[in-house]
Amino acid sequence: MTEPPIVARLRAAGCVFAEDEARLLLATARSPEELDSMVERRAAGLPLEQVLGWAQFCGLRIAVDSGVFVPRRRTEFLVEQAVFLIRGDSIPPNPPGHLVRGDSIPPDPPGTLARSRAIVVDLCCGAGAIGAALAAAVEHAEVHAVDLDPAAVRCARRNVSGHVYQGDLYQPLPARLRGRVAILAANVPYVPTGEIAFLPPEARAHEPQVALDGGPDGLDVLRRVAAGAPDWLAPGGCLLIETSERQAPLAAAAFQASGLSPRVATSADLGATVLIGTLEPAT
Ligand SMILES: C[S@@+](CC[C@H](N)C(=O)[O-])C[C@H]1O[C@@H](n2cnc3c(N)ncnc32)[C@H](O)[C@@H]1O
Repeated sequence: MTEPPIVARLRAAGCVFAEDEARLLLATARSPEELDSMVERRAAGLPLEQVLGWAQFCGLRIAVDSGVFVPRRRTEFLVEQAVFLIRGDSIPPNPPGHLVRGDSIPPDPPGTLARSRAIVVDLCCGAGAIGAALAAAVEHAEVHAVDLDPAAVRCARRNVSGHVYQGDLYQPLPARLRGRVAILAANVPYVPTGEIAFLPPEARAHEPQVALDGGPDGLDVLRRVAAGAPDWLAPGGCLLIETSERQAPLAAAAFQASGLSPRVATSADLGATVLIGTLEPAT
């Protein structure tokens, strides 16, 4: 049996999941002309999500424009950890409620929600996937999101039902948030500069350098975020940053140096490592 032409075109361009991708493109295109253009852009190497204009994340459809970092499924683990913390649940080593890829996080069960409005900040928000997922999962979250890149900010404003600011890390946040943030979530750029050349071409060529480059050891932005966190976190509040397994010990040292008590959470399923730093309440 011969393959449908779209599948054949995508396969010839090296798309491993050509059938699945063809199905998504067919379901998303609003005209034959749009479909042709989408297939050509995908065949030219653009990430599928940038071609579709959306990525699935924690059961949500997150708008993703060309040139904006594509939210990764492994980052769902950071969201899951943040939700456990906001709800005051203890976090077992392998949470029984662990997300299946693409699942949405169930809404708050009655009575388990943090009593007061939880202030959540998504720093380095990109398209705003983390902030959008936390807003959806935690009914009373007040979400603030920040990114340096104007294209990411435009995109995040479509996804996050909250405040989205453009600027450098904490600089654009309103001063009233100082000392009041319950959850500071940050998926910062963490690829060491010298390793960017070895990333898959989709990332290297179609995601901005500012979204990837974490400096010589990949931890430049992480260190700045950790250093600033104690000014913004409420006592008992947590900073959550995605990192690599290899970087985790150095990243934990940066948290400690900033006055945060670090703990590493990992998900073998999602290949994710998240560093969680708590600002211990003064005794
Ligand atoms: C790895 S991407 C993650 C995006 C998003 N958090 C996600 O998980 O999909 C890192 C993001 O950090 C932003 N960024 C880099 N340096 C920044 C800075 N100094 N201040 C604010 N945002 C920054 C980039 O523009 C990019 O959108």
